[in-house]
Amino acid sequence: MSARHFLSLLDCTPAELSSLIRRGIELKTLRNRGVLFEPLKNRVLGMIFEKASTRTRLSFEAGMIQLGGQAIFLSPRDTQLGRGEPVSDAAIVMSSMLDAVMIRTFAHSTLTEFATHSRVPVINGLSDDLHPCQLLADMQTFFEQRGSIQGKTVAWIGDGNNMCNSYIEAALQFDFQLRIACPEGYEPDPRFLAMAGERVQVLRDPRQAVAGAHLVSTDVWTSMGQEEETAKRLQLFAPYQVTRELLDLAASDVLFMHCLPAHRGEEISLDLLDDPRSVAWDQAENRLHAQKALLELLVEPAYHHA
Ligand code: CP
Ligand code: NVA
Repeated sequence: MSARHFLSLLDCTPAELSSLIRRGIELKTLRNRGVLFEPLKNRVLGMIFEKASTRTRLSFEAGMIQLGGQAIFLSPRDTQLGRGEPVSDAAIVMSSMLDAVMIRTFAHSTLTEFATHSRVPVINGLSDDLHPCQLLADMQTFFEQRGSIQGKTVAWIGDGNNMCNSYIEAALQFDFQLRIACPEGYEPDPRFLAMAGERVQVLRDPRQAVAGAHLVSTDVWTSMGQEEETAKRLQLFAPYQVTRELLDLAASDVLFMHCLPAHRGEEISLDLLDDPRSVAWDQAENRLHAQKALLELLVEPAYHHA
């Protein structure tokens, strides 16, 4: 039985992504007005976390409750997955009891394998390759503050990691130019760069990348699973810290985003999240609203009419 999955931004059309963003804003308004909206009553989301999380877990769990359903947190430590049960077997069994499954994992192939055997939608809550749910929140935040991002310039500063790969996919799907500034050897995965063509430029100098940019985004220098490389990365990435002075080179109405958690004094200066150009807190809150729109689309599409 085929289900609709969200493993990457490319699993939706540009029109569907725009509709998701609009719907996220609508659901946010409903919640702010105190209106109860429970299209997912009796629906259950399973959440498999192989890595730590604050925002992803909370936003999916709170989102399901607010939509009238429930979420179950599954740690591999406490399930048979952690003792070697094949992903395909787990997918068959779990998807026979659940209405959707969210997975945060290391290898992206775990997600694709689970999705192949799942009867219900599978959502990527972050893999080593991609973090598409974060991009829904980022794009919603930009849209709320500045309108359409089409034709704008975005600068990604730092590691060519899972977030950076998802920014490349976003550049394609939302039609913006992306400049990536990273140290040599820390470029994003060539598969994503090849797909993006001229829409994405890789540079070494962060000042060149942010010049005139409408959005500047960064992320931790050491992602989950790379802890052993921390000391080397701290040294190599030092010239890539985003500061107020760096943002001064961007467009006068630039927004700064960080998916969080942040390491002040590393990828951002101590004061950057207090700068009026930073929208990191709105961005974090929008995980809730954007993913409620996503859950509605995947689990109960009849309600999704943004
Ligand atoms: N941005 C993000 O995914 O945060 P968590 O790791 O806390 O879920
Ligand atoms: N790149 C980071 C994102 C955390 C939300 C990581 O993978 O750890």
